[in-house]
Amino acid sequence: MTNATETTPTGRPERLIPVPQELESHGPARTIAMCNQKGGVGKTTTTINLGAALARYGRRVLAVDFDPQGALSAGLGVAAHDVPTIYDLMLGHEKDPRAAIQQTETLGLDVIPANIDLSAAEVHLVSEVAREQILAGVLRKVASDYDVILIDCQPSLGLLTVNALTASHGVLIPLACEYFALRGVALLIETIEKVRDRLNPMIDLDGIIATMYDSRTLHAREVLERVVDTFGDKVFDTVIGRTVKLPDASVAAKPILDYAPANPASEAYLKLARELVERGLVA
Ligand SMILES: Nc1ncnc2c1ncn2[C@@H]1O[C@H](COP(=O)(O)OP(=O)(O)OP(=O)(O)O)[C@@H](O)[C@H]1O
Ligand SMILES: [Mg+2]
Repeated sequence: MTNATETTPTGRPERLIPVPQELESHGPARTIAMCNQKGGVGKTTTTINLGAALARYGRRVLAVDFDPQGALSAGLGVAAHDVPTIYDLMLGHEKDPRAAIQQTETLGLDVIPANIDLSAAEVHLVSEVAREQILAGVLRKVASDYDVILIDCQPSLGLLTVNALTASHGVLIPLACEYFALRGVALLIETIEKVRDRLNPMIDLDGIIATMYDSRTLHAREVLERVVDTFGDKVFDTVIGRTVKLPDASVAAKPILDYAPANPASEAYLKLARELVERGLVA
């Protein structure tokens, strides 16, 4: 094809997104929940690689593993056993969040890990006063140290996810470009609206990130078209393509930027980071 103005998978014209300016000072963080109750859509992969990309641009990033599966902790190569975790902070076993924060090999990207203990939290928290606000209380204590806090949610809309939404300024929804991508999104948006009415008036839908896009299939192109028709400008220009290098990087416990810097997914996550800053969603 020889298009005069090249179009991107979203159908919008290709454009340059500027490299963010360096920050002169850091914090307080804007907190963003990576959320979709559908499993396997790219929440964890996006938390890791967007976090690493924002760190590459000089942002101080805290990634919070908020899934008992602990995939974020594993994917960033941090210890999640015999160390304080987000569960200990939520239950008050450990009062100082800084005791649970670990540095990763990526400068500027820190993690609070999780492990299977977190699966008991929903039960333990049911009888707590202000049980939806516990994570917000934990993260408030470290917000001044970071520019952005990314919460990797588990695939459910239960009490843990409601805690994440209550603690956040914004929500990012990764959507895999496959059958039924939009199924369940209405319910997720309804949940965000309930949280806004009842618990956290400031929460916004920051945007939709199309992931696992395979430009060779008509099907993926059709799904993406539907997503753009439905959500318009909320859909980021940046689309994350499908590549086996992303699961490979997770197995190697590294962000794609370190594992396969020349892979298009590295540039895609850098572009997503630039777009978040351009949209004013991250400092
Ligand atoms: N763009 C991509 N291309 C190919 N594989 C991908 C891509 N993004 C993620 N994956 C892989 O797909 C699987 C699911 O991704 P990921 O774990 O990020 O999703 P998730 O939404 O966090 O899942 P869960 O709901 O189980 O927490 C993983 O094996 C991951 O490595
Ligand atoms: Mg996950």
